[in-house]
Amino acid sequence: MDKFVIQGGARLEGEIATSGSKNSALPAIAACLLTGEPVTLRRIPRVRDIRTMERLLVDIGAIVDVGDDYVSIRTPAIRSPEAPYELVKTMRASSLVLGPLVARAGRARVSLPGGCAIGARPINLHLAGLERLGARIHQTHGYIEAEAPEGLRGGTVRFERITVTGTEDLMMAAALAHGETVIENAAREPEVQDLAQLLIKMGARIAGAGTATIHIQGVEKLRGAEHTIISDRIEAGTFVVAAAITGGDVRVTGCVPEHVQALVEKLRAAGVEIRETAPDTLHVRGNGRLRSVDMSTEEYPGFATDLQAQYMALMTQADGQAVITETIFENRFMHAQELARMGADIRIEGNRAVVTGPTRLSGAGVIASDLRASASLVLAALVARGETVIDRVYHIDRGYEKIEEKLARVGARIRRSE
Ligand code: EPZ
Repeated sequence: MDKFVIQGGARLEGEIATSGSKNSALPAIAACLLTGEPVTLRRIPRVRDIRTMERLLVDIGAIVDVGDDYVSIRTPAIRSPEAPYELVKTMRASSLVLGPLVARAGRARVSLPGGCAIGARPINLHLAGLERLGARIHQTHGYIEAEAPEGLRGGTVRFERITVTGTEDLMMAAALAHGETVIENAAREPEVQDLAQLLIKMGARIAGAGTATIHIQGVEKLRGAEHTIISDRIEAGTFVVAAAITGGDVRVTGCVPEHVQALVEKLRAAGVEIRETAPDTLHVRGNGRLRSVDMSTEEYPGFATDLQAQYMALMTQADGQAVITETIFENRFMHAQELARMGADIRIEGNRAVVTGPTRLSGAGVIASDLRASASLVLAALVARGETVIDRVYHIDRGYEKIEEKLARVGARIRRSE
């Protein structure tokens, strides 16, 4: 199993480019199931979750052509409308094929996701939404079976709580339903907006994506399209924190500054200088002195839960006490114990973590437990004294494209070893 070996203490300097968004690319690939015509997607990050999604589509009946800077997908017919346990258990986002399959093939069989490192993460809201659109849903042998032989009918779906992939799943299903669907309390994340853009290019009639109410007027057929995925705001945010934590001087390019606004505001309050020097560039300068600032995760446009672990690593270097509250997932503090092994002072009280700093971190052997937790360990290792060895970096490979190469190019002493 691959490891990262990191020597701490290097100040990052230079330019680091953001890749396309994993969490936008995943639903975009699922959306290719909605049409028999080819859909070409650009700026798809070459990360493990994407390869898993492509494999799932091939099993279902798609022909996937991966080029240098594009992925072209054509699904002439749905051969097997199923997402098996083997794939769903490694990647929950596989449940994104549920909506497209029911809409196009009239049936779907998708494994229940089960437990996950960051919390229970059920898909009950996706299912309740599909039922509102007329799907009949049964659960047998750990699988969800959904059927709508006569097609789905539009309806009003009000999500009990905001769900990102739930909103995406339903938007895709509703695109081919008869009549109008209204999604209330919808997720407003940029990834939802990006998926709506793609669907609109495919001929869907969608209004309001990016607000809490989305209107979808079903159409009979969707067509092929070309689309470029938005940049990955979580990757960009991770690089912004990497610059700040090393007291570095880094331009993060190819990003959408507005998408990381909540993080930028917190970092400015903590004493980091961040300027938007071009429409797609954030210039980050740390001076090695940080103040503690409390933070609570929220749905977009609030502070992303996917940047909470990285922010916690940063707060171990800040002067004072920072209270970090996780409101989206119930068990997303696994990194705290590993950070503590490196010398951080973190107390967990329910869904709050109290980080007291600054602490001098020292290199240690640590284990990556999930994607973003792994990123926080990389960040901590960049400032720790001596060598850190991070085991199980396959977690980080799920969602970060060549992170070690990108960080090494701006001066980090990081290498991959077997
Ligand atoms: C998406 O997951 C992202 N994944 C996650 O990114 C991200 O952390 C999360 O949104 C929150 O921003 C993708 O986009 C592929 P939710 P998703 O449904 O859609 C509960 C990463 O690191 N809930 O918005 O699965 C759920 O348990 C990943 O890249 C239900 O109770 O998250 C959670 O507490 C990890 N029932 C909350 O809602 C449901 O049916 C929000 O989850 C669905 C969700």
